[in-house]
Amino acid sequence: MKGILLAGGHGTRLFPLTRVVSKHLLPVYDKPMFYYPLCSLMEAGAREVLLIAAPSDLPLFQKLLGSGRALGLRILYRAQERALGIADALRIGRDFIGNDRVALALGDNVFAGDCTAVFRHAAAQKDAVVFTSPVPDPVRYGIATVQGERVTALEEKPARPASNLAVVGMYFYPPDCAVYAAKLSPSARGELEITDLNRRYLQEGRLRALPLPCRWQDAGTSEGLLRAAALVREEELKGRQLGCLEERAYRLGLIDRAQFERLWPLSAGSDYGAKLRSVPV
Ligand code: G1P
Repeated sequence: MKGILLAGGHGTRLFPLTRVVSKHLLPVYDKPMFYYPLCSLMEAGAREVLLIAAPSDLPLFQKLLGSGRALGLRILYRAQERALGIADALRIGRDFIGNDRVALALGDNVFAGDCTAVFRHAAAQKDAVVFTSPVPDPVRYGIATVQGERVTALEEKPARPASNLAVVGMYFYPPDCAVYAAKLSPSARGELEITDLNRRYLQEGRLRALPLPCRWQDAGTSEGLLRAAALVREEELKGRQLGCLEERAYRLGLIDRAQFERLWPLSAGSDYGAKLRSVPV
């Protein structure tokens, strides 16, 4: 399975923070925001990742991650020329996806807890798989009405939500998602909506929704950004590392101990670096 990390968009909900800096590079506690969903893709089993960002931001991501080889990954980069919505990432990634299944992660979604088992399960299915999590403010999300594992309705940012179950920003698709995404029409807000793509799978009886078994936070607003940092800190105080790319690559067996230790000097002097050095053999 391949992975796509979408780090595009204007981040308007975080202006002026994001007037000159990509939202996905902002700090969530002690790391850039996109480290967290990238870790989630690694946990899901993706070893080839396409990172999509605005043309002016791409070099910054490349500077941080390079080819991905140091993490046992292959990372490729593509520009999203205009902020055309989430489903646009699948259209941009069409050649990359090829005949493989793909996990699409939003660069501002932080998953806290061990989702490895459920993400691997989703990766192994044939259908499209989404995850839902209850939220206090459903008007801000893609909302699913669900009976068991069966989704009965999907709506993007409904004025009168039928449920409080948000569809979180980690989606698993069969290879035909790229073709379907290319056929979508822009919504009233001018975006190719991921909810419209999910609705297509729903209409074909090829969509499953699973309850997300871990905590989750969309960090795309100032309140969300603060909550995400608090969530990460809380988990780390309990001894659970979140979003540490090097640590995760080592634990997942993508790199050996010698390769892992060669990465330590890059973060020497920071708390993050100390955390890496404390990972047991
Ligand atoms: C996007 C999706 C929405 C989803 C949310 C998860 O919303 O459009 O369906 O529930 O991510 O974070 P956005 O945050 O881009 O408005």
